[in-house]
Amino acid sequence: MRALALLISCLAAVGFAHNSTSDEHTEGQKYHGESLAWTPCPVSPTLDGDHQLECRNLLVPMDQFNASNNGFNNEKHFNISLIRLRGKNATANGNINILLNPGGPGGSGMSLMYRWGVDISQVVGENFNLLSFDPRGVNASTPYVKCYPTPGNKTQASRNSWTGTDPYSLTESSGNWWASSIIYSQACKQTMGEHGEYINTPQTAADMNSILDAVGQENLYYWGFSYGTILGQTYATMYPERVRRVIIDGVANEFDWFTNWSDRESNDDTDKVFEGFVDECIKAGNQTCPLAQLAETKEELIEKLISTIWALREEPAPVYVNNTVSGLVGFSDVWNNAVFNALYSPLRWAPLAAALTPLVQTGNATAFFLHYMLPSTAESYNDYDEGDANDYIRYNDGVSGPALSPATPEELIPAILEASNNTIFGSQEWPGYFNRRSWAVRKTIDFIPERGVRTAHPLLILSTTYDPVCPLISARSANDAFVGSRLVEVQGYGHCSLAVPSNCVNDIVRQYFVEGVLPESNVVCGPNLPLPYFPAENSTTGATSPVHTTGQAY
Ligand SMILES: *[C@@H]1O[C@H](CO)[C@@H](O)[C@H](O)[C@H]1NC(C)=O
Ligand SMILES: *[C@@H]1O[C@H](CO)[C@@H](O)[C@H](O)[C@H]1NC(C)=O
Ligand SMILES: *[C@@H]1O[C@H](CO)[C@@H](O)[C@H](O)[C@H]1NC(C)=O
Ligand SMILES: *[C@@H]1O[C@H](CO)[C@@H](O)[C@H](O)[C@H]1NC(C)=O
Ligand SMILES: *[C@@H]1O[C@H](CO)[C@@H](O)[C@H](O)[C@H]1NC(C)=O
Ligand SMILES: *[C@@H]1O[C@H](CO)[C@@H](O)[C@H](O)[C@H]1NC(C)=O
Ligand SMILES: *[C@@H]1O[C@H](CO)[C@@H](O)[C@H](O)[C@H]1NC(C)=O
Ligand SMILES: *[C@@H]1O[C@H](CO)[C@@H](O)[C@H](O)[C@H]1NC(C)=O
Ligand SMILES: *[C@@H]1O[C@H](CO)[C@@H](O)[C@H](O)[C@H]1NC(C)=O
Ligand SMILES: *[C@@H]1O[C@H](CO)[C@@H](O)[C@H](O)[C@H]1NC(C)=O
Ligand SMILES: *[C@@H]1O[C@H](CO)[C@@H](O)[C@H](O)[C@H]1NC(C)=O
Ligand SMILES: *[C@@H]1O[C@H](CO)[C@@H](O)[C@H](O)[C@H]1NC(C)=O
Repeated sequence: MRALALLISCLAAVGFAHNSTSDEHTEGQKYHGESLAWTPCPVSPTLDGDHQLECRNLLVPMDQFNASNNGFNNEKHFNISLIRLRGKNATANGNINILLNPGGPGGSGMSLMYRWGVDISQVVGENFNLLSFDPRGVNASTPYVKCYPTPGNKTQASRNSWTGTDPYSLTESSGNWWASSIIYSQACKQTMGEHGEYINTPQTAADMNSILDAVGQENLYYWGFSYGTILGQTYATMYPERVRRVIIDGVANEFDWFTNWSDRESNDDTDKVFEGFVDECIKAGNQTCPLAQLAETKEELIEKLISTIWALREEPAPVYVNNTVSGLVGFSDVWNNAVFNALYSPLRWAPLAAALTPLVQTGNATAFFLHYMLPSTAESYNDYDEGDANDYIRYNDGVSGPALSPATPEELIPAILEASNNTIFGSQEWPGYFNRRSWAVRKTIDFIPERGVRTAHPLLILSTTYDPVCPLISARSANDAFVGSRLVEVQGYGHCSLAVPSNCVNDIVRQYFVEGVLPESNVVCGPNLPLPYFPAENSTTGATSPVHTTGQAY
């Protein structure tokens, strides 16, 4: 896939003229058929010294579905940040833009482009521009979602409420979570005011039409990851006639998202990915996975890991390096942060195994602490904090607030236990259910997903075999809902197809974007070899695979 990036089209020479055209108020480059003028992105005008990166903002109505509840003079709008990577041969091919969403909800399209833009363009080729955006409420778009006016206010609020991070007992913690959730939800409602009522996925789907209109493009070309599959499915249901190419990758169940208070299905394969981590470690052997020396079998190693990590609930591991570097390593640090996050991407498996080995072997948590918990060196999972946008969009979209039944803390406890009993990672979700129940923002949408949706052009659906947060079963559900869609499964572990490099998948993606051709039936694709899980010392799997080096979708 890399070879394509080396082809240099003469069209790439089209630069920024800084020629203010008919758009008198905006300096920048205007392209034929577009109503926006673009300027080089402030952070970096190119990504790889080679691709042109341009930025722009776009005002969209606060309420896309009620023309009288808008106004550009009374601030009833959102100001959306756009970012575009120009394909070198896009102009010769009709200047088609593929819209991208990284997930979250609350993930930044700016961030996606900076981190993944070049890699994605290597998959889709130079005939397309990639266009992403910070959705309404997110990061550089304004107003952006926050539940407290200042970070200081947020800290203050959390100091005054109880924020236990190691939830061992739902019954013991529920009173505190319930009470804290009432404060949090009121703060979220007050801080965002009326705009907060319109930060939801159907509004963002309509914003994508505003974006398409602004760039003079009739139909949607789209690749959405993780939560981006909720956005894609929503768009395809609302505007099936504008669907030209829509890929949903690492699929979440849209029916659960909008109509079920429980996230249960999303955890269906979480434990299988954890078992896969251990299994692949044992198979790789102690040369590449040092944890393998601690057990003969997968079962034995799982048992050792769980008993070590669970013991941290009673007694965290003290780490003392010197008088400026020290701290406690607790259950959540290891289980919910390091282990759970590593499930998203096999690239993180080898460092995780290395950090866990001394902890399990001798109780020495120093290596773990230095790798995961030292602010200066800690492995960074996301370079952008979704902040409160994640909750905001999730609960505005879904079943929340007074509409949620079970309604009382007493009824919630057994229901939450049941909803999270399909995974050993379930406890980290418990506090969220209280926030969902206490959610106070007025609901302004009533979107119900549909089955048997006939889009103008069928969807392409991608999934790994075992995805820790968006299981294959949810991809099958989407495959059933969208007429003519095809499901491509890439055999492997991780979140979204990008987690497991596969030329088979890349070829299908490119053929779909370029020619509109789908496989005749659903397909299972093999991963590229060697496998990415515990690469042998000198293996170049991770290093040379374009998409693989980049991290995760949310
Ligand atoms: C912009 O460029 C066009 C074509 O090069 C030229 O005709 C026009 O005068 C320029 N406009 C300004 C404001 O410089
Ligand atoms: C929209 O945001 C841009 C920055 O992205 C800013 O320059 C512009 O003034 C904003 N417009 C409005 C109407 O808020
Ligand atoms: C549309 O917005 C106006 C102005 O806020 C409001 O009075 C009206 O009730 C809204 N219509 C609907 C259908 O919500
Ligand atoms: C650019 O696109 C045109 C039209 O699709 C195609 O014929 C040509 O081969 C492409 N050039 C490159 C360098 O990809
Ligand atoms: C968020 O927006 C700011 C501008 O407000 C921008 O500098 C930054 O790059 C954005 N973050 C990401 C991760 O794109
Ligand atoms: C909370 O926000 C207000 C208004 O922005 C500010 O005056 C106050 O200092 C903040 N309090 C803290 C603890 O940050
Ligand atoms: C909600 O999800 C649960 C678990 O996946 C399922 O058992 C239940 O039937 C769903 N309820 C509705 C209303 O869809
Ligand atoms: C590592 O594996 C090799 C080969 O299976 C074995 O001979 C050796 O004893 C193992 N080392 C440790 C420390 O377990
Ligand atoms: C403490 O340890 C850290 C990490 O090894 C090191 O960077 C730092 O220089 C040490 N500080 C002192 C005062 O020794
Ligand atoms: C723990 O491991 C670190 C290396 O990561 C080592 O420097 C330290 O001496 C060990 N501590 C103990 C108590 O063995
Ligand atoms: C989870 O809850 C369901 C419904 O109560 C029950 O049928 C199932 O046995 C439970 N599973 C586990 C692993 O406890
Ligand atoms: C890995 O590469 C280095 C340097 O190229 C070499 O010295 C070493 O023997 C290689 N290790 C293995 C296991 O092939």
